[in-house]
Formats: sequence, C-alpha cells, structure tokens
Amino acid sequence: MEIQETPDPLPDGSYKVGLAYNHKKGIKSEVEDLEAEYDNIETINAIKRALEKLNCKVELLEADEGILKKLSTAKTDIVFNIAEGIYGRGREAQVPALLNFLRIPFVGSDETTLCVALDKALAKRLLSTYKIKTPKFQIISDPGMRISSRLKYPVIVKPNAEGSSKGISDIALADNPEELKKVLGINFAAYGQSMLIEEFISGREFTVGLVGNGDDLRVFSPMEISYRSKERKNRIYSYNVKRNYKKYIDYHCPAKFEAGQEEKLISAAKKIFKVLECRDFARIDFRMSTQGEIYFIEINPLPGLAPGYSDYPMIAEFCGISHKELIKLVLNSALKRYHMAQIV
Ligand SMILES: Nc1ncnc2c1ncn2[C@@H]1O[C@H](COP(=O)(O)OP(=O)(O)O)[C@@H](O)[C@H]1O
Ligand SMILES: [Mg+2]
Repeated sequence: MEIQETPDPLPDGSYKVGLAYNHKKGIKSEVEDLEAEYDNIETINAIKRALEKLNCKVELLEADEGILKKLSTAKTDIVFNIAEGIYGRGREAQVPALLNFLRIPFVGSDETTLCVALDKALAKRLLSTYKIKTPKFQIISDPGMRISSRLKYPVIVKPNAEGSSKGISDIALADNPEELKKVLGINFAAYGQSMLIEEFISGREFTVGLVGNGDDLRVFSPMEISYRSKERKNRIYSYNVKRNYKKYIDYHCPAKFEAGQEEKLISAAKKIFKVLECRDFARIDFRMSTQGEIYFIEINPLPGLAPGYSDYPMIAEFCGISHKELIKLVLNSALKRYHMAQIV
C-alpha cells in the first residue's frame, strides 16, 4: 500500500490551495433566480484574498467542463471547494466526487453529504429516523399527483433540490388545495423538478452556523431572522425578501431566548451536523413554532460565503469573527482532518 505523506507546506510555511467555484455569468432567463446559487466574482475574490493573507498560494479552478483536467494538473495541497456544480440533483457532489476520485484533500463535506442535503426531502426523511422534528411534508413528482389530505394548511411549496431561496417566491404559500394546485402548476413549469410541500411553521426563524469537526465542532450563536412586515408573504426568507433584506429583515445575533430554548437549538444543530456526517462547516435553518417546538427546515453544508451578504459570514461577524478569520477556521478544520499542519 502506498504511504500517504503529509504535504510539505510551501517555503513561507503555507499551502498551495485550489479554489473550486462556479460564478454567475449574467445569463438572461425568464426565471429570475436561474443563477441564484452561483457565486458573484467578488465573493470568489474575497475568499482568494483571505487565503492569500494566510500566505496560501491560490489557484482559481472554475468548475466547468474542464474541471477534471484542471484538478488533476493543478498540484494543489488542498482544494477549497465552493462549487455548486453544473446540473442535476447531485450537482453539488460533482466536484467533491472528482476530488475524492483524484485523492485530493478538500475543504468541506463530501459528495454523499452534499447529495443528501441538497435533496430536502431525503435529508428530512433521514433526520426523522434520528428523532429530529421537521415539518410534515409530501413530495409531488408530477403535477397530476394526488395531494395528501393529511397535510394541514397553510403549506409552503418549494423545489425539492434547490438552495438560495430559488423557487421560493411570493406565491409559495397556499391556504387550500386550489391555491396549492395553482402554485404547483407555476413551479413545475418554471423548475421542472419534484416539489416539496411542507406544513408551514409560522413561528420564529433561526439559522445556525457551525465550524469544525468532532470534539472541535463549534456552534456560533444562533441568528434570528426577524421579519418586519405583517404581510405573510414577506414573513418567509423568499428570493425577494433575501435580496431586499435591508427592507424586510432584522437580524438578531445573539437572539433572545426563553430558558432552555437556545440549548435545544444548539444541540439539534450539532446532532444534525453529525448525523449527516458534515465536515468543516455548515449552516442549518430552523423554525420555532409558537409552542416553542424546534423544527428542522434544511441544511446547507455549502453555505454562501459572500462577505456582508451571506448568512454564514454574517453570523461569524456577529460573533466577532472577520471574513478572513472565518476562512481560516474553515480551512484549518479541513487541514486538521487530513493531519496537515494548521495555519497559525
Ligand atoms: N416549513 C416551513 N415553515 C415555515 N417557513 C418555511 C418552511 N420552509 C421554508 N420556509 C421559509 O422559506 C425559506 C426558504 O426555505 P429553505 O428550505 O430554507 O430554502 P433555501 O434552500 O432556498 O434556503 C426559509 O428560510 C423560511 O423562511
Ligand atoms: Mg434556507
């Protein structure tokens, strides 16, 4: 068997890091959120700069059709992967799968975790078996499918395998079967994929950021996403609300809790991270019902890292951690996992 040697850090004491990404190209489409999950070039540059400030030598690796060749010739010690992939339900797994195929160490969760997490219903099913509470739901794979009479209205409709509020529009909520059919019709035409119908939990909303692994797993203070509007359509983190967050949202971090609630949220977040075998970093969305029950909504093992915009770096900033420090924490978590020297 071949002995895997720990790569020598570069002469200045750091690493050659590949940054794998997909960025927005400004493709025009009738679907306004077509490229929502891709990163802006500013975000990619901000991560690159942060890595360079940590003395890393960075090679940008756009995850297009040529990515296999780029990864195999780049000779990087580790890849910082933020690539969303190109197509299909398993797209976030495409780059991690190639990295594992080539045996290149990489930052973040592996392909299996990313696949399960991107399929919201699959993640909910799996977590339910670990007694994690999640709203009742049904998957509708074609518009003609019968809708379960056991679901309580209002319900929210979302494409089952999207992120970045893609497909969560002003009309995502339905109060009765007729409204639901209408939303489903519109969403099927726009997104052409299975739709997740979920009971709507109308209480408070929290998102929880985590960094690290095993005994070093750190949970940041949960951040409350508090809605200013009284209008129900603006009390969900929809594509429109997220884009106009300054108008619609107050972020509270640390958030106010009644006794025991914060501990419950943190322990649910840790359990979910571990059950899904997440690595290095993730962000998890929750709703708390008016009775104080915590519901898992979804997990982002590849959370957005746009400074000053994405929730994950925002949470870190509330906790006194700059964007650069956050990138360092995430990278060091991965380096530690691979038994590689950490950056000081
Ligand atoms: N079952 C639900 N009950 C209440 N609100 C929900 C529910 N599902 C989604 N939402 C709202 O919609 C937003 C986006 O849904 P989410 O599943 O997190 O999708 P995305 O992957 O686009 O972030 C949530 O942040 C929340 O405001
Ligand atoms: Mg979300």
